[in-house]
Amino acid sequence: MYSVGSSRVMFAMFRICFLLIPLVSAFNLFSQNTYKIEYHHGIVEGFNKQFVDFFKFAYNKYNRTARAFDLKIRFSKKIETMKVLLEAFKFINNQYRSFIPINMVFDVCSAIKSDLFGMKELMTKSGNFTSCPIQKDSYVMEKFTPDETQFPPNIPLGQYKFSLSFTTNDKFLMKFTVASEVKNRKDV
Ligand SMILES: *[C@@H]1O[C@H](CO)[C@@H](O)[C@H](O)[C@H]1NC(C)=O
Ligand SMILES: *[C@@H]1O[C@H](CO)[C@@H](O)[C@H](O)[C@H]1NC(C)=O
Repeated sequence: MYSVGSSRVMFAMFRICFLLIPLVSAFNLFSQNTYKIEYHHGIVEGFNKQFVDFFKFAYNKYNRTARAFDLKIRFSKKIETMKVLLEAFKFINNQYRSFIPINMVFDVCSAIKSDLFGMKELMTKSGNFTSCPIQKDSYVMEKFTPDETQFPPNIPLGQYKFSLSFTTNDKFLMKFTVASEVKNRKDV
């Protein structure tokens, strides 16, 4: 799914992010209560068959009124470390444009350990991806909704796409995108 060219660009971006934002520190926890995120859908963008033989991610309806994310992945190899690049695209003048202030790279294993973005709680509540190293096995997360009160403050309101690209030792693992709207808490 990925051409060599686009993965080169991606890894160049990884390096740039590393220089600018030296790993959102595992000790740097966030909190905010001004915005709420309304999720619209989740899309799998691709995965690397060298490491992953099944990957499913979606924002599903599970009863008449409630929706939540479901994720299922099967790794074909043991993975010791995993980093994620979060890229934001904001809908401005009828187009999604790269919104660099929100972009960040962090280490998934330390983020779980330190509960960055409430990840540990989210992962423990919703499934069995709770620690590293990642085994040659399947992992599931069911009916989960991230807790935005543990996200960074001051994200401008509006429509966004958030892409998360996962890598291990600079090699692409998988990527998904979430379309959503950041709304004023008072308006929801
Ligand atoms: C749907 O699920 C949510 C969360 O579990 C629950 O709060 C709500 O009452 C349910 N709605 C219906 C119509 O079953
Ligand atoms: C996680 O749960 C799935 C589904 O129950 C199971 O097949 C898998 O072996 C579990 N993975 C681990 C690492 O425990």
